[in-house]
Amino acid sequence: MPLKNAKPVIELIDVCKIYPSGPKDLFYALKNINLTLKEGEFVSIIGKSGSGKSSMMNILGCLDPVKVGTYLFSGENVSTFQDFELSELRSQQIGFIFQSYNLLDKYSLLENVALPLSYNNIGRKERFKIAAEYLKVVGLEDRMNHKPGDVSGGQRQRAAIARALVNKPRIILADEPTGNLDSNTELEILSLLKDLHLKYNTTIIIVTHDEAVALYADRIVTLFDGLVYADVDFTKVEAELEVENPKAAVKPDLENKEEPKE
Ligand SMILES: Nc1ncnc2c1ncn2[C@@H]1O[C@H](COP(=O)(O)OP(=O)(O)OP(=O)(O)O)[C@@H](O)[C@H]1O
Ligand SMILES: [Mg+2]
Repeated sequence: MPLKNAKPVIELIDVCKIYPSGPKDLFYALKNINLTLKEGEFVSIIGKSGSGKSSMMNILGCLDPVKVGTYLFSGENVSTFQDFELSELRSQQIGFIFQSYNLLDKYSLLENVALPLSYNNIGRKERFKIAAEYLKVVGLEDRMNHKPGDVSGGQRQRAAIARALVNKPRIILADEPTGNLDSNTELEILSLLKDLHLKYNTTIIIVTHDEAVALYADRIVTLFDGLVYADVDFTKVEAELEVENPKAAVKPDLENKEEPKE
């Protein structure tokens, strides 16, 4: 949960993502997005296929430069950054978790988790020490020397979570983090993310099309057709209305918006 005077870590101001479409037309995948996320927030970005989730994720993760609008990351205008500056920012301040884990098969879990540290000038022995600490945090102390191919999907995702954490990033971006997992393992991974959020107070952003997954977060931002269609912060609802479990009553009703019922 964000602290009382938490500062914004992400500010998108009038951000558009525009793809060329045909010889002359432009397609707006994100239309004038204004969004502020504070330090320590746990947010889901949800929307149906084509709503702009990946476009948004690529921008938030500085994988795609902002060409229209302004992106402030911890107050710094990263829309003016060059590629090398964006890549430096990514390696130091953003932890990524992907649906398909993106671990390197030929390396052990320990080596995989240690890898992001090698971009930050940390000696080999220290890298392995830190990586081992984080593998312990995610419950993999007895699997450190296994290769990704020799552990379960849930364990692979745990290792990927440890890898996202080793650099103590300011934000963690998780793209469909449980998309390849069965429902029990999904629960395990989402609970782990929640525990880690409480432990480190890192800003966590989950991008998903799955409402059940999205509901793990404290705030749900719903995209529809490249727009922010809804933005509900359950911590505020809980505090201001003094209701228990405010999530039970709120569901982003995308189906109805698309096909109004008579
Ligand atoms: N490279 C591209 N060129 C043109 N249009 C694109 C390109 N990439 C995405 N789009 C369009 O932008 C819109 C948003 O795409 P985006 O990939 O962000 O959606 P999404 O919410 O991630 O969908 P999904 O759940 O299917 O992954 C879609 O209509 C898509 O067709
Ligand atoms: Mg997508």
